[in-house]
Amino acid sequence: MALELDARQRAMLEEMHVRVWWPQAPAPAEPAAAQAEAVAAPVAPPPMAARPAPAVAAPAPVVAATPRPAVAPAADDGRAAAIAAMDWTALQQSVSGCEACKLCGTRKNTVFGVGPAVPQAEAPPRVDWLIVGEAPGEQEDLRGEPFVGQAGKLLDNMLRAVGVSRHGEVRGAQAAFIVNVLKCRPPGNRNPALDEVAQCEPYLKRQIALLQPKIILAVGRFAVQSLLAGSVPDVQTQPLGRLRGKVYRYEAVPVVVSYHPAYLLRSLPEKAKAWADLCLAMETVKSL
Ligand code: URA
Repeated sequence: MALELDARQRAMLEEMHVRVWWPQAPAPAEPAAAQAEAVAAPVAPPPMAARPAPAVAAPAPVVAATPRPAVAPAADDGRAAAIAAMDWTALQQSVSGCEACKLCGTRKNTVFGVGPAVPQAEAPPRVDWLIVGEAPGEQEDLRGEPFVGQAGKLLDNMLRAVGVSRHGEVRGAQAAFIVNVLKCRPPGNRNPALDEVAQCEPYLKRQIALLQPKIILAVGRFAVQSLLAGSVPDVQTQPLGRLRGKVYRYEAVPVVVSYHPAYLLRSLPEKAKAWADLCLAMETVKSL
């Protein structure tokens, strides 16, 4: 891709052990190490009712959303409808007081998401990117902010290297909002349970509708499955490595799939692929 990297950006990538690498045709077989991010245990979150959207010019194949039969949301319909009508402030309040699943009994804080400061708190910030992760961990639960631990540092560094920041348009950076599929920490950092994903799904859906990001970067299989279950057949059983490298759609917003930063901390070789995913996302934004 034609991403212009200056010396400082290259040095940052070196520091992160990211060899600058441009996407090649996907390798036929996934290396064993990548299987950790494979969809070995499908979580089958309820589809987020993605609606098919016309493909727009994009630098990589755009996978048009395939209409699938509507599936009744597992969360209570009335509750989901109420959330779908909330403004930004009401949504934040609803998340902070949420008792829809058992995680409310063990969390210290809810984790709504983080992005640029907004002049009027009732309005969502203007953002270019939405990063969707899995669920808060211990540090995030304590601080009420997503991705503040080691994985978050790596995520911030990689975003910064491509010119994106959770703090907004610092020195011309594009602004990112960062959220998780779950707004509360599963005890012991266990995987999200089906009912927890179902109860939290309306929040993520409304966040996306209000933020209207130019691009969604889905990191890790829970985010990918939650966002693409309504439009990508077999997303529950596809290894994440096979889903990478394409631009999908969620309600007309382009979606790029990548590895979870916590996985990248354990798998240095995959960082180059994650860098390629970021480049694909950036190129997609620039092509809009
Ligand atoms: N992992 C996630 O998926 N989200 C966080 O906020 C932290 C770690």
